[in-house]
Amino acid sequence: MMIPPRFLDEVRNRLVLSDVIGKRIKVVRSGREFKACCPFHKEKTPSFTINDDKQFYHCFGCGAHGDVIGFVMQHDNLSFIDALELLSSEAGLQMPKPDFESVQKAKVAKDMYTLLEATTQWFMQQLYDSRNQNILSYIQERGVNSDTLLAFHVGYAPADRQSLRTYLKEQGYDDSAMMEAGLLRKSDKGEYYVFFRERVIFPVTDRRGRVVAFGGRILPDHLRIPQRGDFTPPKYINSSETPVFDKGRMLYGEAMARQAVRDGQSVIVTEGYMDVIACYQAGFKGAVAPMGTALTEDQILSLWSMISEDEKVPVLCFDGDNAGRSAASRACDRLLPLLKPGQSARFAFLPEGEDPDSLLRNQGTQAFKRIIDSSLSLFDFIWVTHITDRKFDTPEARAGVSKALKNKVATIADRDVQSHYMAILRKKISETFFKRDGFGEKAKKYLTVLKPRKPVFNSVVIYEKILTATIINHPYIYESVGEQYGAFNISDKMLNRLKQAIVSVLEENVDINREDLCLYLKQKGFVQEIGDILNESVYVHAAFALPCVNSDDTNLENIVSKWLDVLNSIQERGLQNEIKQGWKDAFYHSNEDEEEKLRNIVQGTLSE
Ligand code: UTP
Ligand code: MN
Repeated sequence: MMIPPRFLDEVRNRLVLSDVIGKRIKVVRSGREFKACCPFHKEKTPSFTINDDKQFYHCFGCGAHGDVIGFVMQHDNLSFIDALELLSSEAGLQMPKPDFESVQKAKVAKDMYTLLEATTQWFMQQLYDSRNQNILSYIQERGVNSDTLLAFHVGYAPADRQSLRTYLKEQGYDDSAMMEAGLLRKSDKGEYYVFFRERVIFPVTDRRGRVVAFGGRILPDHLRIPQRGDFTPPKYINSSETPVFDKGRMLYGEAMARQAVRDGQSVIVTEGYMDVIACYQAGFKGAVAPMGTALTEDQILSLWSMISEDEKVPVLCFDGDNAGRSAASRACDRLLPLLKPGQSARFAFLPEGEDPDSLLRNQGTQAFKRIIDSSLSLFDFIWVTHITDRKFDTPEARAGVSKALKNKVATIADRDVQSHYMAILRKKISETFFKRDGFGEKAKKYLTVLKPRKPVFNSVVIYEKILTATIINHPYIYESVGEQYGAFNISDKMLNRLKQAIVSVLEENVDINREDLCLYLKQKGFVQEIGDILNESVYVHAAFALPCVNSDDTNLENIVSKWLDVLNSIQERGLQNEIKQGWKDAFYHSNEDEEEKLRNIVQGTLSE
């Protein structure tokens, strides 16, 4: 119950503190104050003072301190409300009655929690229903294990527009409650229907672990019932705001992360549901994510409140692409005014095209740990973003950079923190401008990460896609490369399954044409994969894979065969990290010289 502050003042004003305390322990006047032996710790000489004017007591021995309500709570061991009730009657005041509206609100909220909990259970039941086996397999194929699925209460919302509603009706909930909880929508004809359909469901809990909302991810194309027209539904939908769900205040995963952080884990902020889940599974249990929005002030404060140590430094993860960099800048601008002594953040940048989920899957726990460990401090981030790609060879240029940096630092509201930033800044500026190399090793390393770049591909998967695309578009080459291709172990699970399907067709019928092969693979359920592979995002890296390439001009068999050699040697030597821009050129132009260069890169003999 919310007590109006005015009422508390009234109680404090009507009662004399030393009277209230004097009724409970022996007090003696001492000048303008009263003294007593402290009732809250053992002592022989009085160090407990009571100041009636200021309406507080203070013990110099044990630090006990408070007002009249606090004293009665502690001395009589009463709750706040009980102490207040006692004191108001002593003061001749009537306790304010809880108003109807707040009682109503509390009741609605309570009912909503139970409704959302029942809904969560139903979604989970659906996921484990044998009819939805393929949905469960899809999630598991993405690398999420059963323990993790259960820990996050992941569920499934079937396509049916009514079944959840029917179930909840049976449980005694009415449409208006379901509407208010964001579970139903109303059609133009006034009919209710279920909002979350044909989606993987991620229940969102508050920091105490109560379900307050849902996020729903679309199924991959091959598992979805085809839609009419070309309307593409959004990848994720979230519950609308309700009395218990304020999107900008919640962090996905916060309840579990809080526990983990108490046990010594770091707070890691990622972008999405799947990232939090993948981090958790890999042992980074302090992972949280905002829900489809940039970090809000409230969320930043929550991050700090998760950490009880004096040093509160969550790590924010960003994509290494241009969008990630600008998101980092926005987060930085939002953080600066909020900094306090001991409250900061670090910035980690993932390789382009990866999010924590994909990185953990493709490169493993250690790779992700290295990225977290080598994150930039907030100061370094500001520094690096300002000095990247600038020249300081004229006094004007130096003054310009220095001014921009100082303006940033000036947005720090906390005076202490701001003055420390200014001090380091001055030192760095003078080092950089007056010595030859003042960038600092760490900052230098990040220059490459933070420099805006054209998208490049950086995981071995793209090569596997190019390979697959080439074979699908030019099945005849299987005749000469089939054996090598069949023996090659594709690292991406989906692609590997696709490969097996391709091999099994081509072994039967090597004369099959491109169209028939595609049709067959789609029938086998690889609709999404085919769409994923046979498109521009792959062809830009390898023009020779295009279906229109004339096979007589381009010795495709040769290219593909050499390429399989290279991929094999990468696997053998664990050289994934060596994949660099040069490769793209080598493949793209596919001439002898380039291929030679490519081999050299693989063998590590080419100095860059
Ligand atoms: P992503 O598109 O990066 O999704 O969106 P993801 O989490 O990596 O999911 P997978 O790996 O493709 O399955 C990141 C986050 O942005 C929000 C969601 O919170 C999502 O987790 N988002 C994204 C939306 O709210 N709506 C969208 O349409 C897309
Ligand atoms: Mn993802």
